[in-house]
Amino acid sequence: MSNEQTFIAVKPDGVQRGLIGPIITRFEQRGYKLAAIKLITPSKEHLEKHYADLSDKPFFKGLITYMGSGPVCAMVWEGRDVVKTGRVILGATNPLASQPGTIRGDYAIDVGRNVCHGSDAVESAKKEIALWFKPEELVSYKQAQHDWIY
Ligand code: PPS
Repeated sequence: MSNEQTFIAVKPDGVQRGLIGPIITRFEQRGYKLAAIKLITPSKEHLEKHYADLSDKPFFKGLITYMGSGPVCAMVWEGRDVVKTGRVILGATNPLASQPGTIRGDYAIDVGRNVCHGSDAVESAKKEIALWFKPEELVSYKQAQHDWIY
């Protein structure tokens, strides 16, 4: 499906390190289309919803503090198999296990400062997009390059 969508976020460390541009570039150059973007410093309540599945993990509190420590660049990317391929572009969760050429493999060395987030499944992408964006913030448009990519 070419209209599959995923939620991608540049985490506070990625924003502070000036990595919004390089991360956007990787998705654009691969052929994916940006459907929504905003900078937001998420509240503790918002992050507790986003990471609800991890509430029993020992790193949960630190993860919420880290993610709320500054602006996050929240994005929706669209295109064929973007949920799965988006995770490949990001690299493994633990940057030390990430391949060079992936975002984390090129820019990070600590799992607690891994610069980006990507939805792990189509269903979680739908939930995360609904949590971070209002429906009217999602933009539907045809890109000129679309017919050259598909
Ligand atoms: S787990 O334990 O398998 O459920 O976790 P995982 O799916 O690998 O990662 C889920 C998110 O938790 C973050 N994470 C951590 N943060 C801080 N410290 C430690 N040790 C740690 N381990 C995992 C990880 O970056 C994932 O965040 P997102 O935003 O989903 O990438």
